[in-house]
Amino acid sequence: MTSYPFLTQLNPTLFSANDVYAVFGNPIAHSKSPLIHEQFARNSKQHLMYQRIQPSMDGFSKMLTEFFQMGGKGANVTIPFKVEAFERCDHLSGRARLAAAVNTVWQENGHLYGDNTDGIGLFRDLVAQGVGIQDQSILILGAGGASRGILEPFLRASAQKIVIANRTAQKAHELVLSFKPLASQLGVELASCSSADLEKETYPLFDVVINASAAGLNNQSPLSPMAARRIFQCKTFAYDLVYGKTTVFMQQALQQGCRVSDGLGMLVEQAAEAFIQWRKLDLRALDTRGVLAGLRLK
Ligand code: ATR
Repeated sequence: MTSYPFLTQLNPTLFSANDVYAVFGNPIAHSKSPLIHEQFARNSKQHLMYQRIQPSMDGFSKMLTEFFQMGGKGANVTIPFKVEAFERCDHLSGRARLAAAVNTVWQENGHLYGDNTDGIGLFRDLVAQGVGIQDQSILILGAGGASRGILEPFLRASAQKIVIANRTAQKAHELVLSFKPLASQLGVELASCSSADLEKETYPLFDVVINASAAGLNNQSPLSPMAARRIFQCKTFAYDLVYGKTTVFMQQALQQGCRVSDGLGMLVEQAAEAFIQWRKLDLRALDTRGVLAGLRLK
């Protein structure tokens, strides 16, 4: 695997002549964010510098503060610091509040602003791949922060039904409870179940199945072989938030003749939403699909 340099300490001279942006995470060496943002900057003729920063596990908040005190313009935040970023921000967008996590930060008048662009990023990638959500039946696997971050756009896009399935059923149930008011307001049916329930015949066909669980990171699938045979029909579109490999979940879907996608497009689209927020630009200036195509060739 290619390894890229990252900072564990900030150097003030870095900030003197540049608009500096960064992604904070631990680990961060694998992050493709600098490549993506450099390409956005080129496409939109912006001059900026984008760094990888790896704080220690308990050093995120301090380093984020230092970054902005030195003149940093904006930051992306990834695993495992999104909830800490949420707690650290003075002002939150509505979608950050709903997600209870922040992946995009900037400073205005001495105050930290936080947003969550993951959901809109996934949604834009699906649209770009010709996958509609309106009146569709959606299954989301996993009930952690990633699932929480992506739910809102699916509700707003008038999905017919959304089921959240999780290994630990109680967590899926709690997630559904916290989004129930919005779902009712928007007229979307929202339900939860355990992953084991998916082996039963009670579930209808799903048009879109999204793996937002962390199972793929350990080369596992949240679906048992039997559940996979039941859930995936050839018209199902299967999407894994993980990128850079064909996960076990994607292999299961391919075996049933489904169209599949990894999460690289989501990564590019969530980055684009952050970039236009920071630089006050039109999304079209970034050519996100061209940037994605370039990344796939690398
Ligand atoms: P994140 O914030 O990245 O979503 P998280 O909050 O730790 O991470 O949530 C990870 C999700 O992946 C959870 O829904 C977890 O299921 P549990 O709630 O039962 O722990 C799910 N997950 C992780 N590993 C899994 C595996 N091997 N099989 C199925 N689900 C898994």
